[in-house]
Amino acid sequence: MTPTKGIVLAGGSGTRLYPMTAAFSKQLQPVYDKPMIYYPLSTLLMAGIADILIISTPHDTPVFQRLLGDGSRLGISITYAVQDEPRGIADAFRVGRDFLGTSPVCLILGDNIFYGKLDFLREAIASNVGATIFGYPVTDPERYGVVEIDAAGTVVSIEEKPPSPRSDLAIPGLYVYGPDVVDIAASLTPGKRGELEITDVHRVYLDQGRLSVRQLGRGIAWLDTGTPDSMLDAGVFIHAIEKRQGLKIGCLEEVAWRQGFLDREGFRAAVTALPKGDYRRYCERLLERS
Ligand code: TTP
Repeated sequence: MTPTKGIVLAGGSGTRLYPMTAAFSKQLQPVYDKPMIYYPLSTLLMAGIADILIISTPHDTPVFQRLLGDGSRLGISITYAVQDEPRGIADAFRVGRDFLGTSPVCLILGDNIFYGKLDFLREAIASNVGATIFGYPVTDPERYGVVEIDAAGTVVSIEEKPPSPRSDLAIPGLYVYGPDVVDIAASLTPGKRGELEITDVHRVYLDQGRLSVRQLGRGIAWLDTGTPDSMLDAGVFIHAIEKRQGLKIGCLEEVAWRQGFLDREGFRAAVTALPKGDYRRYCERLLERS
């Protein structure tokens, strides 16, 4: 089976976070003790994905490169592609066409944070036929893409930011697709917002009877960080768990080691390259205890 590749979509305008986003992008902003992109990137790593494309703006892509490099210090491959304009989430498959080739892909939005057991994602990747999306119960579904399912768990409808949602299941910014998503995205035309809508991609799969949805339950925290309030909430959440457990969420070096992308010596080398400070001390403690 061709290994699934990963895309982190980390462009956009970030208007809701202005003026924080006046000088640099949303996904570089801190969420407690790490840049935001560390969290979605670690989600892909935890799903076993080691070949990742980061898509961002012409202005921010060099900053992401400076932050994350080519991934070799994590034992993975990170490459970069520029999206000139925020043309929509589905545009990721046009920008990422060459990177993807004929591989299946897991796309995550750079401002989406998941916390909890990620078996659901590994299972979705292993069993995907067509496309797999997730449904997460929220109190404000009108802010998101919404999926309606029947008693058997089959998708009945999907709608983008509906004023009167037919269910409380929001679709998080984490999706799994077969290699044909590239052609499906290429066939789309921009929607009312002038963007290539990810919902339109899902409608194609739905019409073909190849769209699956998996419901995420109480065991998973899904946070998005697109507004000042939700960004602060996410920071407070990460802080509370890290402080209580003494374990970091989204520490890329640790995740790469635990996933086996780095062996012990590779992890040690990555830690040695870190500047002195709490983050390095945390990694050193992991080494001492192992
Ligand atoms: P959004 O939060 O929908 O848009 P945004 O980041 O531009 O923010 P705002 O609404 O405040 O202006 O985007 C969701 C994620 O997808 C986010 O990580 C940015 C990314 N994105 C792109 O990289 N390119 C795009 O064309 C779009 C629409 C979003």
